[in-house]
Amino acid sequence: MSLQIKKVCCIGAGYVGGPTMSVFADKCTDIIFNVVDVNVDRISAWNSDDLSNLPIFEPGLERIIRKCRGRNLIFSNEVNNGISEADLIFISVNTPTKTKGEGAGKASDLKYVESCAKQISKYAKGHTIVVEKSTLPVRTGELIKGILESQKSSIKSPTFDIVSNPEFLSEGSAIKDLEFPDRVLIGGSNKKALLALGEIYGNWVSKEKIIYTNLWSSELAKLTANAFLAQRVSSINSIGALCENTGADVREVARAIGTDSRIGEKFLNSGPGFGGSCFKKDILNLVYLANHFGLPEVGSFWESVVELNTWNQKRLSSIIMSKFNSVRGKVIGILGFAFKANTNDTRESPAIQICKDLLSEGAILRIHDPKVEKKQISIDLGQSFKEYLLCNQSKEFNNLKKWEKFSLDKELFQDTDALVILTEWEEYSKINWSVIANWMKSPGWVFDSRSIVDSKKILKSGLNLWRVGDGTLN
Ligand code: NAD
Ligand code: UGA
Repeated sequence: MSLQIKKVCCIGAGYVGGPTMSVFADKCTDIIFNVVDVNVDRISAWNSDDLSNLPIFEPGLERIIRKCRGRNLIFSNEVNNGISEADLIFISVNTPTKTKGEGAGKASDLKYVESCAKQISKYAKGHTIVVEKSTLPVRTGELIKGILESQKSSIKSPTFDIVSNPEFLSEGSAIKDLEFPDRVLIGGSNKKALLALGEIYGNWVSKEKIIYTNLWSSELAKLTANAFLAQRVSSINSIGALCENTGADVREVARAIGTDSRIGEKFLNSGPGFGGSCFKKDILNLVYLANHFGLPEVGSFWESVVELNTWNQKRLSSIIMSKFNSVRGKVIGILGFAFKANTNDTRESPAIQICKDLLSEGAILRIHDPKVEKKQISIDLGQSFKEYLLCNQSKEFNNLKKWEKFSLDKELFQDTDALVILTEWEEYSKINWSVIANWMKSPGWVFDSRSIVDSKKILKSGLNLWRVGDGTLN
């Protein structure tokens, strides 16, 4: 007989914890899902009456929150309480790259995971299944087990099973990915615990899609999946740069290779470089692990994927600058600040580095993004909160106000020297270029780093166009 799960606690109400538990609650009405977090503002945003104020933007999320919140989906700051009531606990906290100590700059910082394990060991009651939902270095299960067992004092002490269940959702399509996953991965050694989690997923995922492995394979498979995906992006970006210099077109090359079923057509869009909170940190973690286990060649192979990505982002700034004698005083519209479309997340967004590069050369930026808030852009561009407030008070551009957030209307385009498309938001593909060309300075430039504009229409409107990976334009 498998273990009965009635109450689940998820520690961490972030980009993974929030959407994941929402879908679980929607699909498993007999189970209570308690999502807990130490961040008071985040929890109050999850509990906001105004659903447009949720801390995370994901298509389809509002609909599920409306249905489940208060029914079997609870958001709260009562972490200890959540732990003591749960039969199964997901650890879904952040695992950033370490900034100091052994492995700084590469290894994952596990301090939040360790602190969760300590809290669980202190407050859990009876038998509890502890599930690693966060992305973790291979063999972290050992560390968690050590912490959980260190508190064991008597025969009545709580007992634990440790299971790995990494999350594969992509931001922007999180709800769809959770509702229709390619696969669910569950790793561990206790069959009852594995099946208990498998049964929860079984409410909406077919058995064939649930893969059971040992704990270490599951932990490593998650890092490997992200490394392979990021590697494809760096690979196609490297070819895009070659296309620009040879008269080839990266879209044609991608189509030609993607039809080979061994290669496949996905993840072959050349762009400004991969962003997001995970690809870089997970590959660096893999590099650290490889070096740690005495495999420097493996480490340097994967590190080159990140190096190529950094180079690609810098390359785009240089290309923009190369089209002008100097960008000092030039007014440049930035279309898109999120790291990809359909999310308000800006972590590691290529837009951050590219905007910083342009600002440092004296450009004046008008930034648009349909979901990213001005305050977030300000933080990302390195302004202090005081500077941000000063900028907000002033109506004019001044020394501090070298950038401003704009709506997507005439005011943004008027008298701009260039427009740079950095995120593939759908609205940018619908821009009427013949109208925009009249508002921009002449000769205006459009830099399309996402290949979403109709190049013929842009060129017909008299604008100059640079498009990523397009060697036919030179
Ligand atoms: P996040 O930063 O958005 O959320 C993590 C949350 O955990 C924060 O709200 C933080 O306050 C909370 N937290 C930290 N320590 C805590 C503690 N001791 N008690 C209670 N709350 C605590 O992070 P995220 O993007 O949701 O990522 C979480 C994990 O999932 C990471 O390991 C990441 O690599 C992995 N992952 C992320 C994605 C993604 O798309 N963002 C996808 C798959 C996997
Ligand atoms: C990625 C993985 O796709 C998820 O499976 C994984 O769960 C997640 O990381 C994670 O562990 O955090 P995510 O970062 O949300 O998801 O988004 P992706 O769609 O993978 O895009 C990552 C970056 O690569 C974006 O900046 C995107 O614009 C870029 N990209 C992606 C390209 O430039 N070209 C492509 O063809 C695909």
